[in-house]
Amino acid sequence: MRFKILLLTCLVSFVGCKNSNKADETTVVSKNKIEIDLQKQIDDCENQLEIAVPKLTDLTKHPRLIDTDSTEWKQVPNDKLVWTSGFYPGILWYAYDITGNEKWKNEAIKRTEVFEDFKTITEHHDIGFMMFPAYGKGYEIGNKAAYKDILLTSANSLASRFNLNVGTIKSWSNKMHPRWKQHITIIDNMLNLELLFWAAKNGSDKEFYDIAVKHAETTMKKHFRDDYTSWHVLEYDSVNGNVLNRHTKQGYADNSRWSRGQAWGVYGYTMVYKETKDKKFLDFAQKITDKYLSLLPEDMVPCWDFDIQDNPKEEKDASAAAVVASALLDLSTLVESKEDQKKYFNAAIKMLNSLGSDKYSAVGKADSFLLHSTGAKSLGHEIDVALIYADYYYIEALSRLKKIQEKK
Ligand code: GLY
Repeated sequence: MRFKILLLTCLVSFVGCKNSNKADETTVVSKNKIEIDLQKQIDDCENQLEIAVPKLTDLTKHPRLIDTDSTEWKQVPNDKLVWTSGFYPGILWYAYDITGNEKWKNEAIKRTEVFEDFKTITEHHDIGFMMFPAYGKGYEIGNKAAYKDILLTSANSLASRFNLNVGTIKSWSNKMHPRWKQHITIIDNMLNLELLFWAAKNGSDKEFYDIAVKHAETTMKKHFRDDYTSWHVLEYDSVNGNVLNRHTKQGYADNSRWSRGQAWGVYGYTMVYKETKDKKFLDFAQKITDKYLSLLPEDMVPCWDFDIQDNPKEEKDASAAAVVASALLDLSTLVESKEDQKKYFNAAIKMLNSLGSDKYSAVGKADSFLLHSTGAKSLGHEIDVALIYADYYYIEALSRLKKIQEKK
């Protein structure tokens, strides 16, 4: 036992916020072109799944995190109140997408179809995070036409939380988050809009499109500081829509810049532009992305909050880097100028090289793809762990990169 702990201590070494940059050692820059061994990163993911999947047999649960001193996934129930149920099936869909291996498709179907009843969740906004990576990717990657109605019902459930007086979807219930008494919207909510855009394109009411656009417009005006960084939690007056306060739940302080929150913004506005083609969203996506990039340390992986970045004892959040890497690959295909395309593409490649390097990769150390994420340090949990959504956005980024390379 003592030997096991010693071994783990050596293997899962601490990565704090002021570290030397190992990512550059794996990043080959030649004639302005940054290279990546994409196939190796894909193979690493598939090999990790070969190890993890046979251990994940309980269909009533999903893998959520790997603790710092552990090597195996901690599983939590597929519960209506747990926002992470969709990411594991989503990873399996992407594994099928990038390898073509039917084994991952069969596993993805099994893991997706266990929570169909979540389509009627109206208690919180996370239905988008839960249903889209599972059923949305299954529809798109696995050609599962039967998932369409499930997604449309899910979109309807999400849209029921829209408050016209405020102009946003209500993220959380006040009962679960009693610090706030009225209409709570968190920056993470931007990701859920993808489900509404999808529904609007696939036979539902145009109202869903309008709700998504209105939410994005209100959030753009109210949720961001003048320097294009965002707060985490806004409380609005439910009746007149005025902002009552700007706080945090998972960040370091109410006025700090929680890193994953910034990442949700970058991903969210890139996606909103992709869906609407409205230039004001592209302009905003670029501004918040440029700000995010300007705050990054050398290895492109932020500390869990940008306002404690200089403290070497603070932990990293690889999940934020994975979310942004995936978003940047999309952004690089949406911007017009060659210079911008190159800027965002190269930044994404640097992030992926860093995440795939020995510093962040879990290969040989634990069953995930990535290590060193932080879920909610301010709440005292998920500190310097592997997180299922870090792996999801990482494999999504690899899939997006593969498609970009194939097009070229
Ligand atoms: N949506 C929750 C999180 O980012 O932790």
